[in-house]
Amino acid sequence: MAIKAAVVGVGFIGAVHIEALRRLNGIEVAGLMHSSPEKSRRKAEQLGIPRHYSNYEELLADSEIESVHICTPNNMHYEMAKQALLAGKHVVCEKPLTVSIAEAEELNLLAERSGLVHAICFNIRYYPLLQQLKAMVQQGELGEIFAVNGSYMQDWLCLDTDYNWRVEPELSGQSRAIADIGSHWMDLLESATGLSVTEVMADFVTVHNTRKKPLKALETYTGKVEENDPSQYEEVAIHTEDYANVLLRLSNGARGSFTASQVHAGRKNRAYIEIAGTRQTVSFDSEHPSYLWVGKRDGSNLVMMKDPSLLHPDARRYADYPGGHNEGYPDTFKQLFKDIYEAISSKATNRAANHPDFRDGLREQLLCEGIVRSHREGKWISI
Ligand SMILES: NC(=O)c1ccc[n+]([C@@H]2O[C@H](COP(=O)([O-])OP(=O)(O)OC[C@H]3O[C@@H](n4cnc5c(N)ncnc54)[C@H](O)[C@@H]3O)[C@@H](O)[C@H]2O)c1
Repeated sequence: MAIKAAVVGVGFIGAVHIEALRRLNGIEVAGLMHSSPEKSRRKAEQLGIPRHYSNYEELLADSEIESVHICTPNNMHYEMAKQALLAGKHVVCEKPLTVSIAEAEELNLLAERSGLVHAICFNIRYYPLLQQLKAMVQQGELGEIFAVNGSYMQDWLCLDTDYNWRVEPELSGQSRAIADIGSHWMDLLESATGLSVTEVMADFVTVHNTRKKPLKALETYTGKVEENDPSQYEEVAIHTEDYANVLLRLSNGARGSFTASQVHAGRKNRAYIEIAGTRQTVSFDSEHPSYLWVGKRDGSNLVMMKDPSLLHPDARRYADYPGGHNEGYPDTFKQLFKDIYEAISSKATNRAANHPDFRDGLREQLLCEGIVRSHREGKWISI
C-alpha cells in the first residue's frame, strides 16, 4: 500500500514537493494544509489532493498520514517538526531546519529518540553529476584537495521593489543570503568532499537598506509592486544581507571561499562549485547541470555529459534518464525523496540512511550562525 504523505505550506516549494512525490511509486500525496482553512480547501481542489485540513492539529490527528513535508516559512519549521515527531510522523523539513542552534539541537535529540525518519531538503546534492563528483573525490581521482571555491547567486531580490518574507528576520532568521542559499553551497561542499568547514571569515553587504513592502503579501517568485504606485507598498528598513563573501578553512588544511547573492542581475539560480586537487580540478554549474568540467594539467580538459552509462555506479542510481535527456532542479527533489522514502519503507534508522537529515540541519545552523558572528565581529570564527 502506498505511504500517505501530507504537505504543509503550498507556495513555491510545497508545489515542487507535491510534483516530485507524484513522480515516485509507492507514495500518495494524500493531504494538504495551507495558510487558512479556505485556502487549504481551494489548493487541495486545484491540485486534486483528497484531504485538506483546517489546522495542524487536525492534520497530525489523521492516523493514515505517515509523513509530513514542512514547506512553510523558516520560523515555523521548529514547532511543526517537533509536533509532527511527537505525533509519530516521519518528517521531511525544508531548509533551514530552524532559526536557532538551540532549536536545531532540540529537534535532533527528539528525532534521534523517536526512531522516525527525519530529513532536510538539501536537494542540490542530488544532481547526478554532483553525485559523480562525490564519487570521483572518494576514488581519489582529484588527488589531495587543497581548494574549494564557488558561489550561489540569484537575482530575484535585485530591485528594491522585490519583496518576500525572507527579508524579515522574524520570519526568516538572522541571516538571509547565507541561510537561504549559502547553506545549500556549504552542504554541497561538505557532502561532496567529506571535509568539514572548521573556520569562517565573513563580510556581508545589504545593497538595499530599504525595500518596498507590498501591502498585500506575495508568494515567492510571484511578482512585485509597481514602483510608481506608492499606494501598493510601504517602505521598510532591511537588516539582513543581500550579498555575502565568506573565506573558509577546511578540516584537511585546504582553503576555500564562496559568495552568496540574491541581487546579481542575470544569475537566476546558479550554484557553482570548483574543487581543486593535486591531480585534477572539477567544476559544476547548476544552470548547466548536464555538464561536469574536469581540468587537467598534462592533457586536454574534458567536459563530461550526464549519461548514466558513464557515471560511477554510486552516482548512476540518481540519473533516471539516458544521456542527452536533461535532468534538472525538479529531478533533484525526486531523487532526494527516493532516498527518504526508501528509508521510510525499509524502516531503516537514520544512521544507515543516505539522505541529508536533521544532523545536517544542525550543522548548517552552526555554520550560518558562525558566519553571522564573523561578519558582526570582523574576525575568524571557529565552528
Ligand atoms: N530546498 C530548496 O531548494 C528550497 C527552495 C525554496 C524554498 N525552500 C524553503 O521552503 C520554505 C518555503 O519557501 P517558499 O519559497 O516555498 O515560500 P512561499 O512563500 O512561496 O511559500 C510558503 C507558503 O507557506 C504558507 N503558509 C504560511 N503560514 C502557514 C501555515 N501556518 N500553515 C500552512 N501554510 C502556511 C504561505 O501561505 C505560503 O504559501 C522555506 O523554508 C524555504 O527556505 C527551499
